[in-house]
Amino acid sequence: MKIKSIILAAGEGKRMKSRKPKVLHEVCGQTMLNHVIDAMYSLDAAECIVVIGHKGGEVKQTLSKEVKTVLQEEQLGTGHAVMMADEYIDEEGVVLVVCGDGPLITPNTLRKLIECHEKGQYCATVLTTELENPTGYGRIVRLGSQLKKIVEEKDSSDEEKEIKEVNSGIYCFDSQYLKKALPLIKNTNAQKEYYLTDVLSIIRNFGEKIGVYKTSEYNDIMAVNSRVQLAEVEAIMRNRINVMHMENGVTIINPDSTYIEKQVKIEQDTIIYPGVTLKGNTIIGKGCIIENNSKIVDSEIADSVTIKSSTIIESTIDSYSNIGPYAYLRPNSHIGKHVKIGDFVEVKNSTIGDSSKASHLAYVGDAEIGKNVNIGCGVVFVNYDGKTKHKTIVEDDAFIGSNSNLIAPIVIRKNAYIACGSTITREVPEEALAVARSRQMNKEGWVRRKGLQNKEEK
Ligand code: UD1
Ligand code: CA
Repeated sequence: MKIKSIILAAGEGKRMKSRKPKVLHEVCGQTMLNHVIDAMYSLDAAECIVVIGHKGGEVKQTLSKEVKTVLQEEQLGTGHAVMMADEYIDEEGVVLVVCGDGPLITPNTLRKLIECHEKGQYCATVLTTELENPTGYGRIVRLGSQLKKIVEEKDSSDEEKEIKEVNSGIYCFDSQYLKKALPLIKNTNAQKEYYLTDVLSIIRNFGEKIGVYKTSEYNDIMAVNSRVQLAEVEAIMRNRINVMHMENGVTIINPDSTYIEKQVKIEQDTIIYPGVTLKGNTIIGKGCIIENNSKIVDSEIADSVTIKSSTIIESTIDSYSNIGPYAYLRPNSHIGKHVKIGDFVEVKNSTIGDSSKASHLAYVGDAEIGKNVNIGCGVVFVNYDGKTKHKTIVEDDAFIGSNSNLIAPIVIRKNAYIACGSTITREVPEEALAVARSRQMNKEGWVRRKGLQNKEEK
């Protein structure tokens, strides 16, 4: 059977109090709308139509997958939004309608809804759940076991407000009945909107069967209307992601304080300490240790790497290397195997070869560093002349003494030594020692001549 899906994403989301359309707010690093689209894509043969409206251009730009979009110029209600997609609703088949503000929906729950719809041979089936606090959701009013109608909070009586079974805003329709019912919706309600929920009672009045699939997975249907709900949904999503990694063999010492975005991949036996943030397309290998408060964004970390309280952005680190504490790897840094990048070392747009070390307090920018190089404490790669950035090459086995400045562009050849405190402006040949500092001079008796000696001695 051919299943199409329509995602409603045209609303402004006034209760968010945001300049950004509601569906573009992110949950664990991805817009709510893209989470919903992902769930649709996980279903077989789901062609996806997104109804956009408020700041539709902005919404369109953020879509992560190929989907069709239709424009709802004025947001006259959820039923009106579906009408805008009418040309894509076939004469037969099944249409799934979901809201773009419900990022926790899972393919599993959607599959069960479709299954219930098909088994029961219903013309329309609504996904519901029971909530301890149903405030804000449309209530499911039943007649016996059948659905009588869905009533919005704002249109409900005190008695109806007591109902704990709520509308998820997710439905399965037989296309032909949806098409027939849509033009019959009226906006005679508290919000003067064309409610999609009314389609159900309209189809029932045709004398057709309406299904209700009540799920116990109440989290799945949670919708975001406010920032408070955004945080609630995020906590659930974050927990789902953390649980998935733990089930795959990753240790997360304190899941409550660990933020891992959806696309991140982590291999077995890696240990994640509290306060860690892993974002974007980050991949972490086996047996790594990621210590407290590290932040890793769009980076690839190989096996057995230790990262202590450091920030790593758009970079790669090979196996057995040690980073931090308090190191800062800026974009396009490539760290080899068995490398040590110690405390307060900043690396930017540089390659560092295997077994090299920068143990403390250094700036390495726009450099190509070979194997087994030692970069002493306080070394600065002087890459910027005020106008352009220049490159430094340090070949294998070179030793850069502490507190040296390497003024780029410059090449330090193999096995060369640079005396500490040097400011190097010319190429250093292989196996040479470069000393570029003024010679020390001791002026004997200078203190006494100036009368600066200890007072008691005077
Ligand atoms: C809707 C349901 C309610 C249900 C709840 C579940 C209706 C009338 N009410 O209420 O029964 O419990 O969802 O979360 O359907 N949208 C448009 N165009 C519009 C209006 C809305 O595209 O003209 C989109 C919004 O962007 C949003 C979704 O539809 O993604 C739901 O709209 P929203 O205003 O949040 O509906 P609720 O009041 O939450
Ligand atoms: Ca909503």
